[in-house]
Amino acid sequence: MDKLVIRGGRRISGSITASGSKNTSLPIIAATLLAGDGTFTLHKIPDLKDIMTFTQLLNHLGAETTFEGNILKISTRNVESLQAPYELVKKMRASIYVLGPMLARFGHARVSLPGGCAFGPRPIDLHLMAMEKLGATITIETGFIDATIPGGKLRGGHINFPISSVGATGNALMAAVLAEGRTTISNAAAEPEIETLCKFLIAMGATIRGTGTTELEIEGTNTLRAIEFHNVFDRIEAGTLLAAAAITGGDITVNGVEPDQMKAVLNKFVHAGCTIETTENSITLKSPKKLIPTDVTAKPYPSFPTDMQAQWIALMTQAEGTSRITDKVYHERFNHIPELNRLGAHIEIHKNQAIVQGPQLLSGTKVMSTDLRASASLVLAGLVAEGTTEVLRVYHLDRGYEKIEMKLNSLGADISREKYTEF
Ligand code: EPZ
Repeated sequence: MDKLVIRGGRRISGSITASGSKNTSLPIIAATLLAGDGTFTLHKIPDLKDIMTFTQLLNHLGAETTFEGNILKISTRNVESLQAPYELVKKMRASIYVLGPMLARFGHARVSLPGGCAFGPRPIDLHLMAMEKLGATITIETGFIDATIPGGKLRGGHINFPISSVGATGNALMAAVLAEGRTTISNAAAEPEIETLCKFLIAMGATIRGTGTTELEIEGTNTLRAIEFHNVFDRIEAGTLLAAAAITGGDITVNGVEPDQMKAVLNKFVHAGCTIETTENSITLKSPKKLIPTDVTAKPYPSFPTDMQAQWIALMTQAEGTSRITDKVYHERFNHIPELNRLGAHIEIHKNQAIVQGPQLLSGTKVMSTDLRASASLVLAGLVAEGTTEVLRVYHLDRGYEKIEMKLNSLGADISREKYTEF
């Protein structure tokens, strides 16, 4: 197993380019199941464990894939197996994204229930509701979702999501594009990941109105085609890199980004005292002498993203006062806090709010990753902690950050990746 050994106290400064977005890659890879003719060429796909897991799932279903230099080529011509197995879905819950496209193209799908994850239950009831609204019959047996279409083909309908769900919106879109007739989706997720999925599906030949908004209208079509597509940047990796500079008093420029997709996060860095300058495709952050405590409430886009909540908590351990961080998306997404407190932070949890006292001198020690963004927050804390911090079980980190220690070392960090065994 791998750990990251971080020798803290060094400023993170310089220029770096963001990788392609993980959370955009996953739905567009799933959407390749919708077109059996031709080969998709997807550019700027990050080299991550979650991407490997997902392509493994597509291969299991019968797709042919090659991945070289962040270019993923996929042909789903020979897809026939309709079952997404437990072993793969358990590794990555976003495997549920195959449900909509498999139903739409083959009229049947069998997907293992994803199970929970480190920060509490992550239900899929809204995914199933959406499929049923389009004419599917869903049964759940022996841990599997079995979806069929008595009428033979999905038919358009109205889907009204009671809460904003990125995944359920993605599945609904990928089912509706091949359904008969019109589908409307109310309270759709408007995250950039969904906006990009809409653009991808439109490029494949789908008719979608309302891209980027919470009200979507889809006219079903019979055929969609394989395309070449350039993925967008990873806004969470970019935000994490900005936080790495801010927590160590450094100055950084992140290139290959779209600042407009990060307004809520950039505003919070400004409130915390950072200077932010943007161009069309770059963000420059200059750290203040002292960080100002800044409250954050994580909510659906365009608000501050829950995927930056853990990183913000790490940053606020260095601010001159008390900060309150509330997560209204995942109320239990705080597994990073006991580990941050082991580094010397003073953070209390009250329901879905963390109260962070700062500034706290952090002292390096061994800490355990529990999930993807929790591990990112531990790396950030290790960068500023005195002495050496060992972040264990970095397989969590490798799911969503491409070559993170190489990127941070190129910006002045001193991080090594080492093997270790657990008792
Ligand atoms: C996506 O997960 C992201 N994952 C998550 O990022 C991100 O935290 C989340 O959206 C919220 O932005 C990917 O894109 C692969 P949701 P998803 O459905 O789609 C509830 C990371 O770190 N809900 O938008 O699973 C749910 O419990 C990962 O990269 C239902 O109640 O999230 C949550 O409270 C972690 N029923 C809220 O909706 C459902 O059927 C939002 O979840 C589905 C969701």
